[in-house]
Amino acid sequence: MSQELKNEPPLVDAFQSPDRLLMGAGPSRVHEDVLNAMSQTTIGHLDPAMVAMMDELKDMLRYVFQTGNAMTFPVSGPGSLGMEACVNNIVEPGDKVIIAINGVFGTRMAEVTRRAGAEVIVTEDDWGTAVDPNKVEDAVKANPDVKVVGFVHAETSTGALSDAATLCRLAKDAGAMSIVDTVTSLGGVPVNIDVWGADAVYSGTQKCLSCPPGLSPVTFSDQAVQKTLDRETPVQSWLLDLSLVAAYWQGDAKSGARTYHHTAPVNALMGLHEALRRVV
Ligand SMILES: Cc1ncc(COP(=O)(O)O)c(C=O)c1O
Repeated sequence: MSQELKNEPPLVDAFQSPDRLLMGAGPSRVHEDVLNAMSQTTIGHLDPAMVAMMDELKDMLRYVFQTGNAMTFPVSGPGSLGMEACVNNIVEPGDKVIIAINGVFGTRMAEVTRRAGAEVIVTEDDWGTAVDPNKVEDAVKANPDVKVVGFVHAETSTGALSDAATLCRLAKDAGAMSIVDTVTSLGGVPVNIDVWGADAVYSGTQKCLSCPPGLSPVTFSDQAVQKTLDRETPVQSWLLDLSLVAAYWQGDAKSGARTYHHTAPVNALMGLHEALRRVV
């Protein structure tokens, strides 16, 4: 067989990103210090310098999330992957889950949760209005076996901000876990994970953290982590399984030594480190 390449190489100029003033719902404009941080030399994902930087990054994430949760780190992927990480670790097939919908991203959370095999019950509010806690309370009362309540803190599609503290308390009072989307709220309005008592929370880098898109900060309460360990079925996604990702982001329980899980996007993490430094 001939080894000759059949396709001619495409002739492509170096890409020039046009100077845009970003005024949309994200990505938002990124400070040049963050861009410079991302253009540093790529190092190995287990380089000691990298591991030290990751520890600082987790500390700064705990600060912006206002939490002491040990399991706090950025998922290697966009906000939607953080959503998948929270849902697929916390929800088991057959679980009854209440999702409050008041816009695009609540609708997406309901779909992701259905695909995780849950029995999804939705509450609906008009787009542009906050989630009505009374509707969630009624749904919780009507479904005493509910395992998880999920909602979006700030619905980007309309700008509506919901009362996260009340919604997390409703879940807790019912003995259920909460999943909270803070993609648009983190760094923009107060996000207070420990005061709310939220269990599995995800965000994005491209909005109020003013960092390029592509990473999803997440934080899990100790109870949420325990729930993932007590599962009857393995987490359907190998990449997102917390108990496996922990090898890289937390390491050995005694020595803290990190091991490979996946090749983390090191330069993107350098950018997030700088973006968080600016927020902090
Ligand atoms: C509230 C909310 N949740 C989830 C997402 C999904 O994030 P991504 O587009 O980074 O996957 C977005 C994106 O705009 C969002 O605004």
